[in-house]
Amino acid sequence: MSQSAPTELSGYAEKLIRTRRATRAFRPEPVAEETMRAMFSLAGAAPSNSNAQPWRVEVVSGAPRDRLAASLRAAHAARRTSIELPYSDDLYSPVQRERRAAFGGRLYGALGIGFDDHAARAAYDAESLGFYGAPHVAFLFVPEQDNARLAADVGAYMQTLLLAMTAYGVASCPQGLLSFYADEVRAELGVTGGKLLLGISFGHADDAAPVNHVVTDRAPLAETTTFHG
Ligand SMILES: Cc1cc2nc3c(=O)[nH]c(=O)nc-3n(C[C@H](O)[C@H](O)[C@H](O)COP(=O)(O)O)c2cc1C
Repeated sequence: MSQSAPTELSGYAEKLIRTRRATRAFRPEPVAEETMRAMFSLAGAAPSNSNAQPWRVEVVSGAPRDRLAASLRAAHAARRTSIELPYSDDLYSPVQRERRAAFGGRLYGALGIGFDDHAARAAYDAESLGFYGAPHVAFLFVPEQDNARLAADVGAYMQTLLLAMTAYGVASCPQGLLSFYADEVRAELGVTGGKLLLGISFGHADDAAPVNHVVTDRAPLAETTTFHG
């Protein structure tokens, strides 16, 4: 492999990619409309197979956001889930389970919740359905056909959106949990078609909240990536 020196752009990219983090406590002030349009326009530059751009995005703020938080919590309290893309903890291999446990230990540690305190963890899940206090949430839908290739395109869109938000000083948290209540999301937004992949809560971070200072690490390069030739 030939050497390549850091450039101005690689310096920006290092900063942008490494400063994005999942934020779980927000201040209530809304993001300016102009900034919203700039971030979502930039996210649309994401790559997709044959440039098909198969994502569908619903951005929710204000009164609909408040009504939705209430109906998600009511569904959670009634244990009424509606999941359009199957989820199970069995999805994960042993090494992936170890990484999840390490992350969970740090997150719940920062919240003062014991890892085995299932009641407190469930209460925190219920709390998270209020978008961690964020004034906005974006829901991402994948096309109806159950095809992981199309979900890959929407995944590329998701990360591009998260980075666009970071670039505009807006904090975010992708929340798979929000997709467990698709019926409530559809009823509030009047959306038909597609399958709900996840919601992304976003707004301005509450920097004073300890949960926003949880550090996540990553597997060493050699654990995930092989260079051939
Ligand atoms: C597809 C996806 C779903 C996620 N779902 C949740 C969720 O339901 N609740 C939550 O608090 N964080 C959720 N996260 C955030 C991850 O926990 C977080 O990205 C991971 O621990 C790495 O931390 P970092 O984003 O701060 O680098 C999700 C992230 C992704 C990409």
